[in-house]
Amino acid sequence: MQEIIHDVLILGTGLAGLRAAVEISIQTQGKADIGIISKVQVMRAHSVCAEGGTGAVMRPEEGDSFDLHEWDTIKGSDFLADQDVVARFVKTSPDEIRLLEHWGVPWSRREDGRIMQRPFGGHTFPRACMAADKTGFFEMQALYDTLVKYPNFKRYDEGFVTSLLIEDGRFAGLTLYDAPSGEFQVIRGKALLIASGGLGNLYGFTTYSQTVTGDGQAIAFRAGLAMEDPEFLQFHPTGLVPSGILMTEGCRGEGGYLRNSLGERFMEKYAPKMMELAPRDIVSRSEMTEILEGRGFKGPDGLDYIHLDLTHLGADVINKRLPLIREVCIKFLGLDPITQQIPIRPVAHYSMGGIEADINGRTKVENIWAAGEVACHSMHGANRLGCNSTAECLVWGGITGGEITRYLATDPILAPVPEAKANREEERIFSGLLRQQGTESPAAIRRELRTLMDQHAGVYRTGPSMKKGLGKVLELRERFRNIQIEDKSRIYNTNLIQALETENMLELAEVLLMAAIAREESRGGHSRTDFPVRDDEKFLAHSMVYYTGSTPRLEYKPVTITKWKPVERKY
Ligand code: FUM
Repeated sequence: MQEIIHDVLILGTGLAGLRAAVEISIQTQGKADIGIISKVQVMRAHSVCAEGGTGAVMRPEEGDSFDLHEWDTIKGSDFLADQDVVARFVKTSPDEIRLLEHWGVPWSRREDGRIMQRPFGGHTFPRACMAADKTGFFEMQALYDTLVKYPNFKRYDEGFVTSLLIEDGRFAGLTLYDAPSGEFQVIRGKALLIASGGLGNLYGFTTYSQTVTGDGQAIAFRAGLAMEDPEFLQFHPTGLVPSGILMTEGCRGEGGYLRNSLGERFMEKYAPKMMELAPRDIVSRSEMTEILEGRGFKGPDGLDYIHLDLTHLGADVINKRLPLIREVCIKFLGLDPITQQIPIRPVAHYSMGGIEADINGRTKVENIWAAGEVACHSMHGANRLGCNSTAECLVWGGITGGEITRYLATDPILAPVPEAKANREEERIFSGLLRQQGTESPAAIRRELRTLMDQHAGVYRTGPSMKKGLGKVLELRERFRNIQIEDKSRIYNTNLIQALETENMLELAEVLLMAAIAREESRGGHSRTDFPVRDDEKFLAHSMVYYTGSTPRLEYKPVTITKWKPVERKY
């Protein structure tokens, strides 16, 4: 087993991971030795798929304010967001936009030359700074271009992290399957940032790339870090049918309509003021209600849909501001949104929960930080507003980069690697999982898992259905013990990687369902038809799920409320 050492390890190369790497490099003038690990290649991180924009208060003189952004975010969160965290976020995100401007993001521009901002759901002011509808792609480019000015980082592309090694309460290193060489490695570091993104492939119909399987959450959970608020899974209102590809909220921000099969703009029944630009939980529920009450269109494989109508926007707006949307519709459906309506339905898009981290991104292990979607700083509560996610990645990438730099300046010593644990992990994977001659297919288990999550933990939920779903997950976990990995080789074994991913997904599905069953109320993205009302008496609290080796343990912790009292949400 090969052993490698760096000052700091960054797991994940999306916006949060790259932003942190840039911050550490700048603050240490390139002196910190950074290991950057990705299970894909740097620019294939899912952040490149972010489309619509990055939220920030850029124009106080035109009526926007930190208070307004704070209020929109907290109301959008159904009052589950920690308010001190939101306040820090809104004050920091404009600086991130300006930094990205300096680092080369080609923002779309207004006539007066200032950065263009489009309206987004749940925001009372146009706040989404945009680079047409490819914002994440350009932000990633700018960050990576900036990072390469500092030579002191090493990339571990296509490295799959299988476990975290913690010794005496401190991070010591991680175990990694290096797919290109087939080697099993221990990489040590004085500090670790987990920035490995979401977990949306738990669902079959999703906007996520195939690679987004919650690996960072699962290894952290097994290492003893709590999963906070895992039941809050966001369904974006406009996933292209049947692929699930994101049709950015920017479509509605630019003035697009949602229409049912009668041609009606049905949002006027559900959110008469904000209409199509109500928060995502509300729009997704409204779409599902239309579909369930028979005012949708029949779609393939049960994917009934409604229409996103951009035809009144005109070719110029679509070509300039939504070019990717047009390209995807033409390539995937042979449909031109300039003249035709787009088939869409709610789609699994974002996990509000994640690894528990404080306002500085620090976890309960003193030298592990978490940033971006993998983390739960409690910034989005029960429902995230659109364009607050790329902004969050940048803000907490910057914050955790600064925190880690300060930690390194204290000259911490490397924690000793628990060799027995590392050896056991190598044996578990290469002598156990890879060699065992079972009868179950990991691919089939993964498929079944994704289908059951669509069926039992969707936009609308009930206790009995979720319990049934949890039962099925536990059966799949049992069957997983008897898998057979077809490819027995070590080099580039994608069968092995997919089996490890599936194991992680099963772990997280159990966590999500368990917390969802226990939360007997409706709040934000967690909408129960058997408990349709928000219950602040009992559930104005964060769910905290802990690994035990058998059934996870569930606890609750209070929400930080500073100045905004919970009220009924009306839009
Ligand atoms: O619709 C979108 O462009 C997605 C943005 C987001 O999730 O923030």
